[in-house]
Amino acid sequence: MTSASPSSGALAERGAGVAEQGGPDVAAPERAQEQVLVLDYGGQYSQLIARRVRDCGVFSELLAHHVPLAEIAARAPRGIILSGGPASVYAPGAPRLDPRLLELGIPVLGICYGMQLLVHSLGGRVEQAEVGEFGRSELVLHHDGRLLRGLPREQTCWMSHRDTVYEPPPGFTALASSSGSPVAAVEDVERAIYGIQFHPEVVHTPYGKQILQRFLTEVCGCEPTWSPAGIVEEQIRRIRRQVGDGRVICGLSGGVDSSVAALLVHRAVGEQLTCVFVDHGLMRKDEGEQVVQTFRDTFKVPLVAVDAEARFLERLRGAVEPEAKRKIIGEEFIRVFEEEAAKLAEQDGGQEARFLVQGTLYSDVIESGGGTGAATIKSHHNVGGLPDDLQFELVEPLRALFKDEVRAVGEELGLPERLVWRQPFPGPGLAIRVVGGEATRERLAILREADHILQEEIRGAGLYRDLWQSFCVLPDVRTVGVQGDERSYGYVVVVRAVTSDDAMTADWARLPYDLLEKIASRMINELREVNRVVLDITSKPPGTIEWE
Ligand code: XMP
Repeated sequence: MTSASPSSGALAERGAGVAEQGGPDVAAPERAQEQVLVLDYGGQYSQLIARRVRDCGVFSELLAHHVPLAEIAARAPRGIILSGGPASVYAPGAPRLDPRLLELGIPVLGICYGMQLLVHSLGGRVEQAEVGEFGRSELVLHHDGRLLRGLPREQTCWMSHRDTVYEPPPGFTALASSSGSPVAAVEDVERAIYGIQFHPEVVHTPYGKQILQRFLTEVCGCEPTWSPAGIVEEQIRRIRRQVGDGRVICGLSGGVDSSVAALLVHRAVGEQLTCVFVDHGLMRKDEGEQVVQTFRDTFKVPLVAVDAEARFLERLRGAVEPEAKRKIIGEEFIRVFEEEAAKLAEQDGGQEARFLVQGTLYSDVIESGGGTGAATIKSHHNVGGLPDDLQFELVEPLRALFKDEVRAVGEELGLPERLVWRQPFPGPGLAIRVVGGEATRERLAILREADHILQEEIRGAGLYRDLWQSFCVLPDVRTVGVQGDERSYGYVVVVRAVTSDDAMTADWARLPYDLLEKIASRMINELREVNRVVLDITSKPPGTIEWE
């Protein structure tokens, strides 16, 4: 229900890879023939490959490399991509390739380790090179071949490997080389087996998308039919089928995931859906009103908005420890949600809602190792985690989507820009940004105003979308200052702005000095209680994004 995925710093690190047995259970499109599967050999860009394939308009899923062959065959993919990975093909215990995969008659593209695996399995030569090839490299084409036809003879590409292909397998043509890769691309057009040493999925390979597109359309014969509009239509059909005439309930947080999920369900089953928005008083300025306005007034979605600020603050009294705050907020959230669900059931003649909408994303599915879907509610989708013994059947219309696709669907559904592009915001909200002390009403108010100034200035400078997150932290610390010839003793506001792709790692954003000056002077002039503003210049690791 929150837009930020993990519910705690520790959870954020728990990317467990893809499913051990088979693949994640996602709502794949009904036109199964249009899938391309990515087999994950543990590379850092494996998810990105699937995303890029979808960018080309073709549905793609990431599966564990050892998924049973029968499962692959049953999915009848149009193509298979073998990802990169950290192993050496000749090392004992290195992930292998089932040779029968190459006999399914499905085109295969190996990337990095994937290419080395193909070459090694089919009788070519892969060895460790004297020096590795990491980062930008110049690729020189020797043969156009099928995969690289029409591309410039020399081009930049992104490499990340130490093992290198020295000789292609019999029947293959070597297409290209680079300073660190005598054989940087190979193909056997007859058997439709292709390999590239570089990474077409990263932006540092300028012709990467073109190469993937060529593989998808020319080699695999895929039609580029995967689009946000298509997703909307298909999900609406699915939701109707799942829900029938049952009652559905959805916890709205104001984040993009729960918002898009709710709108899709509303499109599908209209007033059978009721959204519950629990305003715990820990939101940013005006955020609660924006959620109510958007859903109740603009989209006419039945919405129960609960002003629960007083009870949350009461429960938070005396809580200083970060995890204690999270626990209190999580428990209270469940209590409020259950109370509201019970009230709704009462209004409905005692009939409880059977379905609960969750904004689970494909990356959550992958990171939790797949799963059966209907039974579990991952704690980090929620403020503190709805317990998994809640008697709801889950409706998860975003289960097959990456975050950028969710945003595209949000735009397609007419969700305002502010909601579609909202930066992640932790479920426990501002409470975990009043650090080292109690989240009192007074401190939350100062923090909320400081945060508002920061957001206004960041948006005004056109930087909001460039940042993964930008926010303020209010330590329970006062410092001495001098304002208007008088000694002051006020709060310190910390400005935290980071760039990141996935919150696993982050860098502090180099905000322009002039902008920082404006932010600091506005905070000090407009907020009586604040007399000092500092900037956090810690990356993650070693820091975390939040302070608590
Ligand atoms: P850290 O601080 O661990 O944060 O680097 C990584 C991402 O997770 C968000 N975050 C949370 N999200 N509940 C949430 O829903 C939480 O308790 C929580 N703690 C951290 C954080 O904002 C960042 O995007």
